[in-house]
Order: sequence, then C-alpha cells, then structure tokens
Amino acid sequence: PANAMWGGRFEGGNDAIMQAINASIGFDRRLAAQDIAGSRAHAAMLAAQGIVTSSDAEAIREGLLTVLSEIEGGNFPYRVELEDIHMNVEARLKEIIGEPAGRLHTGRSRNDQVALDFRLWVRDQCDAAITGLEALMKAFLAQAEAGADWVMPGFTHLQTAQPVTWGHHMLAYVEMFARDRSRFIDARARMNECPLGAAALAGTSFPIDRDATAAALGFDRPTANSLDSVSDRDFALEFLSASSICAMHLSRFAEELVIWSSSQFRFVKLSDKWTTGSSIMPQKKNPDAAELLRSKLGRILGATVALFTIMKGLALTYSKDMQEDKEQTFDAADSLMLGLAAMTGMVSDMEALRDNLKTAAASGFSTATDLADWLVRELGMPFRDAHHVTGSLVAMAEKAGIDLPDLTLEQMQSVHEGIRKDVFDVLGVDNSVRSRMSYGGTAPEQVRAQVARWQEQLA
Ligand code: ARG
Repeated sequence: PANAMWGGRFEGGNDAIMQAINASIGFDRRLAAQDIAGSRAHAAMLAAQGIVTSSDAEAIREGLLTVLSEIEGGNFPYRVELEDIHMNVEARLKEIIGEPAGRLHTGRSRNDQVALDFRLWVRDQCDAAITGLEALMKAFLAQAEAGADWVMPGFTHLQTAQPVTWGHHMLAYVEMFARDRSRFIDARARMNECPLGAAALAGTSFPIDRDATAAALGFDRPTANSLDSVSDRDFALEFLSASSICAMHLSRFAEELVIWSSSQFRFVKLSDKWTTGSSIMPQKKNPDAAELLRSKLGRILGATVALFTIMKGLALTYSKDMQEDKEQTFDAADSLMLGLAAMTGMVSDMEALRDNLKTAAASGFSTATDLADWLVRELGMPFRDAHHVTGSLVAMAEKAGIDLPDLTLEQMQSVHEGIRKDVFDVLGVDNSVRSRMSYGGTAPEQVRAQVARWQEQLA
C-alpha cells in the first residue's frame, strides 16, 4: 500500500514535496517518551477492560519498552515516510512484536494521541519553569539579603529619582518572578485533564475507561468533551503566554545589567563566567549573556503570536495546521529554560559596586523629595509650596555646580528663612532610605522583613 498506516484507499504514493511538508518526525520525535507512556497506559486499560487480551497487552508493553530503549540509546530507525512519532513508534513496535501491535490503536486516534503527548510535554515544561523560577528567586533573594541597606539611586524615566536600597531593587524582581511562578502553577492545574479516549473527535464505541488512563498518567480527571479534547491547544497557549511575561521580566533585568555594567554607570561587576571579550578591543568585557537574555523574549513572544495565529481560524476539531504548534512551543520552552538558568547564574555571580552605587545615589539631587517633606513636616508648609521652595534650592545648587547637601544654611535661608540646620539630616542618602518605612517601602527594615517572608515561602 501507499502508506502502511493509512494507505488502504490510496493507489499512488505521495509526492516527495508532500512528504516534506507533511512530515513532523523531524521535530515531534521529542515527544517519544510521552508517546510511549500514553500507549502503555492505553494498552493496560484496553486489557483491563477486556478489549485486548492480557497476553497481547503484555507483548505491547514489552515491545514499547524495547522501542523506548532504542530511542534513548540513539539507535531508533526514524523514517520520514511514517510522518510522525506516533506512527514511527507503532511501526517499529510491529517489527518487534508482530500482530499484537496492530491492536494498540483500538479506541484511539492520532488526534487524541497527539493532544495527550503534547499536553504531557507542556506539563513537564511547566514543572521545569517552576523549578527554574524558584532557583532564580533564591539568587535574587541572596542579593537582597546581602544588600538590604546598600544605597543606590532609584530611577524613573532613567533619571535619578530617589535613593533606594539594593535589596529593595532585587526584591522587585522576586515579586515579578513569583507572579510568573504562580502563572505556571495555575496553567499546570488547568491543563491537567487527560484528552486520551476522545479518539478522533467523537469518542469511541469501545468500553474504554478514561478515568483509569487519566489516573495512570497523573491527570486529575479526563477531559469532558471529546470535540474540545482534540481541538484544544489552550494549554500550550497558556504556557507560551506565561513564558512571554516571564521572558519580559528576564529581559528587563538583562537591560538593567547592560546599563549597570557599562563604564559610564559601573554599578555592577559581572563575572567572567557571563561576559566575553572583543577580538580587537583589549579592554572590553561585554555583557553578552545579558544581551541574549534581552533578546529571548523576541523568540518566545514570536512563538506565542505564531500559535495564536495558527489557532484563531480553525473550525472544530483537529486540523493539520495544529501540527505546527510543536516547533514553536519547543523553541520557546528551550529559550525560557536556558534564560532562567543563565539569569540565575549571572545574578548569583554579579557583584554590586557599593561605593559607586552610593556616590550615584547621592548625586542628581536625589534627596530633593526628602527636603520638601521636611518643609511640610517641620514648618507646616503645604506640599505644593514645599515643592516650589525645594525646586528653587535645586536650581541654586545646579547653578553653583554642587549637590543639595553642599548648600550653606545661609543660602537655603535666602530662599526660605524658616529653614533650620537640622534639615541637613534628611539630605543624606542613608537617612533618606531609612525614613521610607511605609509597608513595601525601601527602608532596610522593610527589605529585611520582605526577605524573611520570601525565604519562608521558598523554604
Ligand atoms: N503529526 C500530527 C500532529 O502533530 C499528529 C496528528 C495527526 N492526525 C491526523 N489525523 N492527521 O498534529
């Protein structure tokens, strides 16, 4: 026949280009372990239900183990004319055990089979993302704990805004990655229903036990609608969406590292492990890992948009378009896992240049808000007036080419006569950050409390 699996009604074979566009074995071989796990659960259930004999089921089980060991050993004979991993595994099983192999596909279709395999694969990737995010959060937490009271400039518009603490900045990322982690946990819980048994689209007339296969494969329950089961790729879209948001966070910190490690900023020293040199400029130490991390979102978001676009026009149920879900998701998952690992390493190994951070924190009139707050608190001035007075003082200092604490008391009093000597207490950066004690604020005491909270949660 034209094709060993479906060739019954065909007379001629496929065009070579048809084979090239149709085959997915080049990439879906990554689903081999999931495919074999699904087939083993299916065969065991068929025997338990009396749909195949237990000796056939035993032959299938042993044959599948042989196939798995061939695949793991790298000596499985993949054949492109068998299109995909599902038919490659089944055809090889037939070569090994003969006739019983043909009974495995009873009450099943490649449509529910691929939906199952892919879902199992994506579920594993959710677990990997959760584990990777926990390691990354711990790396940021260690930085936050060490630098709970190291002062650095906080920015808005990338202009110096107010002094903050290094620990506070690190904890901002812990919050982001914790949200990412919870997104993967949610997605995993929602995808944990088993589509096996939906068959082609309508269910099957065989007395299958879907609860049994669902339980054997670690699912909470079987999916409840066979049409939805074979046409749904929400689980992949959710994984990709969560990955995109996570990669966006990775990219933002990567951007900060690129800026911070520049010789203009010199806020951090990146380890040699995560930088490269230039072949012509001997002084260079380039933050390549950070740059590549910044770019990973491009691929991951690209994959996300690709799968949305593939899915959006498909009438129920399965269409071959859906075969293109896998390469996108594989690439996105690989990029995300690599990105998480690289960022964890970089964050663990980076060194904050504390003196530079502190000098930068004290420049750019970073305590102007503290001065305005002092005028409100000590002189009872309305904040808007205090803002104006402080603005005049900043202008005076800027004209003189000095920072706010370098103005004399007399100079200050020429702008507002009520200003007293103790105003200088609030112009220092350490006092500034210590005063920001509101919940979630940058004060070292608040930072330490948040570090303790996260350490407990991640323990
Ligand atoms: N290789 C296919 C995929 O990845 C498997 C399902 C094919 N089903 C079918 N009826 N052609 O989507």
